[in-house]
Amino acid sequence: TKGSHDHYMRKEIHEQSNALRECLRDRFSTGDSVSLDAIEDGYRPESVHLVACGTSYHAALYGAKLLRKRGIQAQAHLASEYALSPPPVRDGALVVGVTQSGETADTLSALRTATAEGARTLALTNVVDSTAARECDDALYIRSGPEISVAATKTFASQLVTLVLFALQSSGQTSDETERLVSALTELPEHVQRLLETTAAPTTARRFADSSGYFFIGRGVQYPVALEGALKMKEITYEHAEGFAAGELKHGPLALVTEDTPVFVSVVGDDETARKTVANAKEVKARGAPLVAVTDGVSSIDRFADEVLTIPRTNRTLAPILVNVQYQLLAYHTADHLGRDIDKPRNLAKSVTVE
Ligand code: F6R
Repeated sequence: TKGSHDHYMRKEIHEQSNALRECLRDRFSTGDSVSLDAIEDGYRPESVHLVACGTSYHAALYGAKLLRKRGIQAQAHLASEYALSPPPVRDGALVVGVTQSGETADTLSALRTATAEGARTLALTNVVDSTAARECDDALYIRSGPEISVAATKTFASQLVTLVLFALQSSGQTSDETERLVSALTELPEHVQRLLETTAAPTTARRFADSSGYFFIGRGVQYPVALEGALKMKEITYEHAEGFAAGELKHGPLALVTEDTPVFVSVVGDDETARKTVANAKEVKARGAPLVAVTDGVSSIDRFADEVLTIPRTNRTLAPILVNVQYQLLAYHTADHLGRDIDKPRNLAKSVTVE
């Protein structure tokens, strides 16, 4: 049941810290080394293709970035496009289907194509014994528990964390960076909890609820959550929302920016990536758009943003998970203000079983 929550979506957003605890439970062997039952220790894929749809595709984009950073060739593909032009499957290729339900027709079809091409397959899924879990060579569970609301929330966070674990195990590297990442992973559920208790997202959502459109920008690991922030916003508010790579803005989308289109930007830390994003945010502000920064407060962005949504400081790789919680709340409270049917948005189904 929804308990004290008005909607399943809200309940599931609030379940995220426990879902992440469950996702991490017993998945470390000694100290900083990850051990996932689904994959034999020492297995090193030569290349990884991640296939997925919708929110799960955004998780796949994030996973591909992480794997590449750790020296593994990796690409994310929209499942519905994969079968039309599958990339060549070479020896040692692994195809990972990222699918919460394990029943999405496009993803199953991409996985079947991969099997036919001779790739090893892995289902990264929530539902135990789902079709993807049964048909793939192996299944890696995200352990989120049941998700009722059509909009995926806690399962996205669990997908990202599972992809971090997968990248750590399959690259086999241990370094200071790995150690820092592992210790940040163990603190992540508490950070999510704290964010949920302190967020200003309801106020921000109300302030901008009558806007004509919403844009989300991010760079590097923040790019997939910009896409996800926009998807969540459009599917439950029915308002126009678009996510862009921060660097792409001036190549066209900047023409859409007005005083009536708030731009949400996530900036974490103060490295070169953050500074470039801050420069992009300044361009938006100079065009008169309201600017909302989701940030850990390290860069200079909070000095000129119109509103700031704070996230706890954490490892840069994991920060998108916290940024995304703010985006989920923003979409939720905007939709609530507009009186939308949050758990069952029009025209959408939880599990899409036709291609
Ligand atoms: C959006 C959403 C969808 C799903 C997509 C894939 O909130 O839930 O975009 O992510 O239909 O579903 P799964 O992950 O079950 O394959």
